[in-house]
Parts: sequence; C-alpha cells; structure tokens
Amino acid sequence: MRYDVKDLSLAEQGLLRMEWADNEMPVLRLIRERFEREKPLQGVRIAACLHVTTETGNLMRTLKAGGAEIALCASNPLSTQDDLAAALVKYEGISVFAIKGEDKETYYRHIHQALDIQPHITMDDGCDLVTVLHTERREQLPQVIGGTEETTTGVIRLRAMQQEGVLQYPVIAINDAYTKHLFDNRYGTGQSTMDAIMRATNLLIAGRKVVVIGYGWCGRGVAMRARGLGAHVIVCEVDPLKALEAIMDGYEVMPLAHAAKVGDIFITVTGNYHVIRAEHFHRMKSGAIVCNTGHFNVEIDIPALEQLATRKRTVRPFVDEYQLADGRRIYLLGEGRLINLAAAEGHPAAVMDMSFANQALSVEYLVHHKGQLPRGVHSVPTEIDAQVARLKLQALGVEIDTLTPEQEKYLHSWQEGT
Ligand code: ADE
Repeated sequence: MRYDVKDLSLAEQGLLRMEWADNEMPVLRLIRERFEREKPLQGVRIAACLHVTTETGNLMRTLKAGGAEIALCASNPLSTQDDLAAALVKYEGISVFAIKGEDKETYYRHIHQALDIQPHITMDDGCDLVTVLHTERREQLPQVIGGTEETTTGVIRLRAMQQEGVLQYPVIAINDAYTKHLFDNRYGTGQSTMDAIMRATNLLIAGRKVVVIGYGWCGRGVAMRARGLGAHVIVCEVDPLKALEAIMDGYEVMPLAHAAKVGDIFITVTGNYHVIRAEHFHRMKSGAIVCNTGHFNVEIDIPALEQLATRKRTVRPFVDEYQLADGRRIYLLGEGRLINLAAAEGHPAAVMDMSFANQALSVEYLVHHKGQLPRGVHSVPTEIDAQVARLKLQALGVEIDTLTPEQEKYLHSWQEGT
C-alpha cells in the first residue's frame, strides 16, 4: 500500500479521536451500515482531496465500507491531523498522502499521488484536485464518472470552468445542499473559527472589536459566535443585500478602511483575493490580530505585510508577530491559512455528519447515474438533502408534524383566497 504520512506511531491516538468524532456522526454511521450490506461502490476508485481530519476519517471508512478503493490527500497544507492520517493507513488500509505543514511542492506531489489511483470519482474541497486533473493529467479524464465538491470556493472555481467550457465531467456541488451550508458553513465555521483564535492567542474576546469581513454563511456564523462571546462585531461587505442583512442582524457595518482603525481582531471570510492590504495595515492599531477563515491563504496580502515589517518572529504556535517601521506590531495567525483547521480541529463532527452524509450519498448517486449526467456543476438532488435532514432529526430524537390531506390539497390549489 502506498502512503506518505508523518508518523505511523500516532495511529492509536488518531483511532481514538476518530471514534470520538463518530459518536457525533449518526447519519454517516447509518449510511455506513447500509453501505456495508449493499456495497454500492464495489470496484469504484475514489481520489479524495479533503482536510484530513477525524470527520474525514469517518467519511473514508464509509466509502470503504461501500466497497470503494480510496486515495486521500490534503486539501490544505496546514489542516492535516497527523494522528488521523496514520490511523487511516494503519487501521483502515487507506492510502493517505498528507503531512501537516507540508510545503507547496509536497502538497502538489500528494495530489498527484492520489490521482495515481486512476479515479472513477474525484472528491474535492477547493477544486485543486480537479484542476490538476484538467491541466496536467488530462489523459485520465475519460475514465472519470463524476466528482463532488465540498466548499464554496471550489464551487465558484468549478462554475468558472463550466463557463469556459473546460469542465469535462459532472460534479455535484455539496456546498449548495441546505443540510451543508446552513449548518457546516454557519455553525461549523462560526464555532471552530472562534475556537481557533482562542486556542492560538488565549485572548479574552469579550469587549473586543471583532471585524468580520464577508457576510456569507460562514461570515454570519463567525459574527454570531463572536457576539455570543461578548465582542463588539463590525461587519464589512461589498454586497448591499448582505450588508443590509448584517445591519438588521444588529451589527455595525462600515468599509474596511474605517474598521481598520478601530478593530482588535480581523477575520476574513470572503473567498476573495487581497481583502486586507497594505492600506489597511497602515491604519491598524498596534496589537491588532489578523486571521483568515476562508478557503485559501490569499485573503490577507501577506507579501505586503512582510514588506512593511522590519522584524518578524513567531511568539506562540500559529502566532507571527510583525513589527512595522513605526514600532506597531501586527499579529498574523496561522500564516493566513484557514485558521479553524490550522489552529483548531475544524468544524465539529455533528455538522460534518450532514456534509459528509451528502458526500457519501452523492457519490452513490453518481455511480448509479454513470453516463447519464451532463458535464457541469450539479446540485445535490433534493431527495438526498431531505433524507439527510430527516435522518439527522431522527438521530436527535426530534419528531415533526406532517401536513393533513386537507393542507396538502390547499397548498396545491389557487381558487381559495380571502
Ligand atoms: N472543513 C471544515 N471543518 C472540517 C472538518 N472537521 N473535517 C473536514 N473538513 C472540514
């Protein structure tokens, strides 16, 4: 078996943590039990490029239970949990190529090693795997049935590929399922981002001015949890609708150029490029903390910060201090990489349960519909989304009402008014 992980002796700890996460993943467990019986993925090879976490470990076990052969690589150089990577190799016999802190060259080598499995299905988080396949390994494209994409950033890249007419197979946008973005993006990013900032800095959040840049589902979650911890939250947005929503949700909204002067902690959640730039660093208070929780490390213009700095030192794990020429100090967390996975453990298992249930069921759907779906970006079938919600409620022991026949009829009629 091929693999490249940090240290196999970490495997036992990884197994314990994966089992702990599994306690919070009842929906995925039910799917795993069914996959075990029905083997819907027998003979299917999957290359997966995901954050290598305990939750991902449970997804990999599920796909394997379904009969799939898997190669897993990291979707970010800093998000790998090395003990989990070791556990998947040692106890599950899954090929894993991921080491926390790997450099860019190793990151791409690992993607190539995962693609060496000659996948029928690609499973991506950020679209790097699909990009390598479409640029450097095009000869493999004909054997691919389809793919899945986990995150907002990846779906945006895929839609750009589709627009240019270069995407060569169907890809299901997991992010667009309600049971994904309403929970994972909002509650997962919200909690894990604040958790990571606190683990990295041990700062008191109460009373601080936290600037949340971007008010999509992730930004909404971060703002909500920062407020819950007692922060005064300022939101920066470019979209007038989202800005208005932030105002009505009770936050202060202003351009980053103004927020830069007053903020204590800055969190980028935009999915966009160079959102915090030199002009903003120039205005920040000494001691300002800057971090990113969007997918790629491009949201903060780190080269500009490096250029402004006269000294840089690491003062705690995941905390780099940049001293500027005028003596001010700015602290960058997690090298500008997504902080919730760099300095904490990513989204809690209870939300990944739903995201990864969508992943497992979407892979099964792709295999069932082999050759029938046009190339391009597809939504998660609504039956899958509804099924995940139903199973999650069932696992939580929550019962809900059903429509009476009279109500069903009313909802399908138009005659009756005032
Ligand atoms: N993305 C965010 N949190 C995650 C987690 N815990 N596992 C896998 N991918 C994630």
